[in-house]
Amino acid sequence: MSHAAAKAPKREVFNSRNYFILAAIGSAVGLGNIWRFPYVAYSEGGGAFIVPYLVALLSAGIPLLFFEYAIGHRYRGSSPMALRRLGGWTEALGWWQVLVCFVIAIYYAAIVAWAAMYTWFSLSQAWGDDPTSFLYGEFLQIADATTIGFDFVPQLVLPMVAVWVIILIVISLGVNKGLAFANLLFMPLLLLMFLLLVGQSLFLPGAMDGLNALFTPDWSSLGDPSVWAAAYGQIFFSLSVGFGIMITYASYLKRRTDLTGSGLVVGFSNSSFELLAGIGVFAALGFMAQAAGVGINDVAAGGLGLAFVAFPSLISEAPLGTLMGVAFFGSLVMAGLTSMISITEVVIAGVRDKLGLSKPVAVAIVGIPMAVISTTLLATTTGLYFLDITDHFVNRFGILAGAFALIIAVAWIVRKLPQLQHHLDRFSSFPAGKVWMWVMGLLVPVVLGYILYSEISDNVREPYGGGDYSLATLGLFGWGMSGALIVAAILLTLLPSRNKKMEEFDETHNEHEIAARAEGVTQ
Ligand code: ALA
Repeated sequence: MSHAAAKAPKREVFNSRNYFILAAIGSAVGLGNIWRFPYVAYSEGGGAFIVPYLVALLSAGIPLLFFEYAIGHRYRGSSPMALRRLGGWTEALGWWQVLVCFVIAIYYAAIVAWAAMYTWFSLSQAWGDDPTSFLYGEFLQIADATTIGFDFVPQLVLPMVAVWVIILIVISLGVNKGLAFANLLFMPLLLLMFLLLVGQSLFLPGAMDGLNALFTPDWSSLGDPSVWAAAYGQIFFSLSVGFGIMITYASYLKRRTDLTGSGLVVGFSNSSFELLAGIGVFAALGFMAQAAGVGINDVAAGGLGLAFVAFPSLISEAPLGTLMGVAFFGSLVMAGLTSMISITEVVIAGVRDKLGLSKPVAVAIVGIPMAVISTTLLATTTGLYFLDITDHFVNRFGILAGAFALIIAVAWIVRKLPQLQHHLDRFSSFPAGKVWMWVMGLLVPVVLGYILYSEISDNVREPYGGGDYSLATLGLFGWGMSGALIVAAILLTLLPSRNKKMEEFDETHNEHEIAARAEGVTQ
């Protein structure tokens, strides 16, 4: 064993379970809550969407949170290390998650940087009376040709570099002084700004029309399988399950920890924030529709369109619009930063565990190249196209297919669900029990398998982008990138580790060590 391996660093632990819960909520609450949920709920059945949404939360979201907590906590490692300890070859599934996070972090940084710039623009309403031309023209300077190139837009470089510097400093400071501290700072700020925004939106004329549009139930939608698929998709993305984030964060927990209790707090806090975002966003859209004399249908949007086109129009028209702008874009920045920290941590922790590196060295050799790649691809006239394609493919095939493969491997091939259930129930206030095993072993794979099948067939039948992108661009950055993730995950697994702790793991010894902690206070 090499010198580096012999000196593999000791694993960090969160000083308190509350730090972990806050960091897990910080990871979950992100763009998915603010700009994805309101629009998905509105377009997939309105008030009736609450039914599939709650079913998805209880039947897949929370059970999957428990699953990832149990893996990270029992096998004490980043995704690749924990999964190697769990089943050997399953390390490859951990690398798959690391690579998914790599791709997401690359573009997530751009969205956070744009939101930061728009917080600034809100002060002077820099978009004037045409937010669409401002976004695509003056600000992003989007190229006409929908291919991927390297024409830099200088004004996008600095904010992206700033975002990366913040993320990498936080991560290099470690789990307590970095992750926990950043979440202690950003999460209350996020809540404050968001409450301000919702409070203001609710008093705008037309707000109630917006809420009626969001919550009027279309019960017939419950018979449509795609509505159910949308609910499960939303829960996966929003709770940050299938990314390896929860495995990594749980590996920093003390041995005696109430895992299921923590999962319930995280799951329900995330959904409460999501509902609050729905109320705030639709109250605001109700005002816009009334001001423009059009239906909600004409102003409702999700994603970039909501944040960078609909909201700027609203800010220009609403009373105290500047304040609303700062609250809205500031919330996106806070929510985005805490999610991005967790996504980047998965990548850095994965490489760090494999090579037995110290945190600052791992940040330097992984984080800096990520920042360079991200800025090179996104701060360009074609960055938006890159973001659009990779986001679509990595969410569908990276996260969902990775989660499907992981559950099949753990439940049906290496058959470790009983150990994980025992581990969860050992110190927890709420027993996972046999019900959890049935849900994870049968229900979740069936639902995930169905969603994946319908996503793949939809994408094959109708290429993404409705003809905007050439097949070569989709082939390279969409399907090609998805395939490359699998190949790279296998190669990284075959690469020899330089960390003794990753190579040598004794399940019986681990079990004895955990059992030895059975006495004492559960945190
Ligand atoms: N869970 C994170 C979000 O909602 C990734 O954006």
